[in-house]
Amino acid sequence: MPGPLGRGAPVEASGGLWITFEGGDGSGKTTQAGLLQEWLENAGRTVVRTREPGGTAVGRSIREIVLHHKASGDGADGADIGARAEALLFAADRAHHVDALVRPALERGEVVIQDRYLDSSVAYQGTGRVLDPDEIRELSLWATEGALPSLTVLLDIDAASARARLDADDKPFDRLESQQDAFHTRVREAFLALAEAEPERFVVVDATLPPEEIAARVRARVAALIG
Ligand code: TYD
Repeated sequence: MPGPLGRGAPVEASGGLWITFEGGDGSGKTTQAGLLQEWLENAGRTVVRTREPGGTAVGRSIREIVLHHKASGDGADGADIGARAEALLFAADRAHHVDALVRPALERGEVVIQDRYLDSSVAYQGTGRVLDPDEIRELSLWATEGALPSLTVLLDIDAASARARLDADDKPFDRLESQQDAFHTRVREAFLALAEAEPERFVVVDATLPPEEIAARVRARVAALIG
């Protein structure tokens, strides 16, 4: 099934199933991915849990650069990561991750549950008003030879609720989390537009609902997929 840009196809021809979770920082993707994993494993499926950036050893090195590089402002060595370099780093992680981990698992007939995929790049890197969202998507599709998941769960949350959750969580913010609320609002709108463009791939769930209610909605959509 081609994506809206005429490229990209589900890659799980051999019985595997690929599900991605998307949404802003603090939307509860990790919790929901864990609940879905538990449910699928109880149903007898083998599940691989992974994430971008950082699902592989190469990816963890890239994650360190792209999320934690500190610009000192001191000449070329202290320059911040530019928009194009950032987009390419996420795409490089993605290329390696799909090739080394996702495709092989799907070919073994397993379920891959993944935190974030190319929609995150379109929403985050395509939102800075520097790069064109269509180009970002094309870059990721080139990197992965057109790989798209069967289902993408978008956990939709407003910037203020997400911020309150991240503040309650004691972890220091990374480069992208520390952006202003206006940025996160634009990211949210970008995610919603992506979901609207591909309703057959996406399910959108209100991330402020109780976790069990969200999990039930996700399960209903996955159950419809696996029959
Ligand atoms: P994530 O791993 O979900 O954060 P955490 O583990 O801290 O909860 O994502 C890290 C950040 O990377 C997040 O702010 C979104 C951003 N990101 C992009 O900007 N583009 C991308 O393509 C991906 C995959 C993530």
